[in-house]
Amino acid sequence: MSAESLKQKAAEAALDYVKPGMKLGLGTGSTANFFIKALGKKVANGFDVICVPTSIASQELAASLNIPLTTLDDTPALDLVVDGADELDAELNLIKGGGGALLREKIVAAASSQMVVIADDSKLVDFLGAYPLPVEVVPFGAAATIHMMKAAIKSAGASGAIRQRNNIDGTAFITDGGHYIYDCALAKIENPKQLAKNLNLIPGVVEHGLFIGLSKVAILATENGIKKIEL
Ligand code: 5RP
Repeated sequence: MSAESLKQKAAEAALDYVKPGMKLGLGTGSTANFFIKALGKKVANGFDVICVPTSIASQELAASLNIPLTTLDDTPALDLVVDGADELDAELNLIKGGGGALLREKIVAAASSQMVVIADDSKLVDFLGAYPLPVEVVPFGAAATIHMMKAAIKSAGASGAIRQRNNIDGTAFITDGGHYIYDCALAKIENPKQLAKNLNLIPGVVEHGLFIGLSKVAILATENGIKKIEL
């Protein structure tokens, strides 16, 4: 089965967690898009739900499917967010931000009572870090922030190259919040909690893609069916 079909299966399995009347966060990325499309079909059949998207891209997709939308300003507490991940470990520590939406994704996840992660099972790893960790940085003084990030990474026992994310035309990738993304190729993150704490202390770091303790359920699609991790 293709990775896309597996993503779709994981996304559709997450519909079991969505109950009528829920206030729902909509993730970002190709797996989250499958979820939004599946939800759109339910809504077209009269299902009652109201949603906060985690990116402009997800907002546009949901709006095109007539999914009722709100904002965290009008609806500050959500029941559930369903979102993808770039990597997850058995404790449901995640790396997110491959699509550059990590800040809104983390704000929405923190505002939700529950986060369900959806992915194909290739995303499950023993140690996070093979996928470069995205860090969202304020443009002002970015070089100084990178300097501090290197020290923070070293002090958490990790190391690796830090590269600014660019668009295909070579211009700097700018997030929905107007910030840069730096991708940290750390290969293996032995202590994600410590690294998250260290990065959180740097003023120019808006957020990073380590999601620690935010999710207790992951739905992974495998060639042999759906596998769940429930903490
Ligand atoms: C976007 C994300 C995505 O959830 C993550 O990149 C996974 O994407 P995909 O479902 O396309 O593999 O964190 O910021």
